[in-house]
Amino acid sequence: MPGLPIRPAVRSDGAFLADMTVEAATWRPGASRPRYEVVSSPEYRRYIAGWMRPGDAGFVAESPEGEAVGAAWYRMLPRDEPGFGWVGTGVPELIIGVRPLWRAHGIGRALLRRLLDHARLQGFVRISLSVERDNYAVSLYRTEGFAVVRRGMGRDVMVKRLG
Ligand SMILES: CC(C)(COP(=O)(O)OP(=O)(O)OC[C@H]1O[C@@H](n2cnc3c(N)ncnc32)[C@H](O)[C@@H]1OP(=O)(O)O)[C@@H](O)C(=O)NCCC(=O)NCCS
Repeated sequence: MPGLPIRPAVRSDGAFLADMTVEAATWRPGASRPRYEVVSSPEYRRYIAGWMRPGDAGFVAESPEGEAVGAAWYRMLPRDEPGFGWVGTGVPELIIGVRPLWRAHGIGRALLRRLLDHARLQGFVRISLSVERDNYAVSLYRTEGFAVVRRGMGRDVMVKRLG
């Protein structure tokens, strides 16, 4: 689906970003977890709570009908409340999700590239993420220049240098 419009995320996208956080938390085929449970859990709530705070940035892909179908965003989490992919102060962590029906059409890669360009323009030197090792998203990240910097229990932290 090349050419879907991508626009900067705004404050009112918070509920959609929560939906995409649920997609990221339940990516595994057959996995299901109630939305309220994911968005209220301490480990996922931190990626969306209070969207959008100063320093938050993201992009949303829209269908031809203007419906949000995917998003990529980053935020800076503090050392005392880190995300899965926290690597250091001043390094934003990204999250990405595309609605299931819209996947595998290049939307995720386009969103990721837009977000990486934005992070670079904002002066960030690195950006991080966390991904379960068997998620096919790993190959998206690798081909966009991310490398594993920390291996965990089934989950890796990856970083891309933006300089
Ligand atoms: C990961 C995700 C954001 C990618 O978005 P997408 O629009 O489906 O991805 P794209 O179509 O741009 O594909 C990018 C790459 O992902 C990989 N990929 C995408 N769909 C795939 C599939 N069904 N099987 C294997 N690899 C796949 C490929 O490497 C692909 O690159 P290629 O097209 O050059 O082969 C999306 O699939 C998603 O929302 N997944 C569930 C949530 C999630 O896992 N988020 C990440 C948490 S870390």
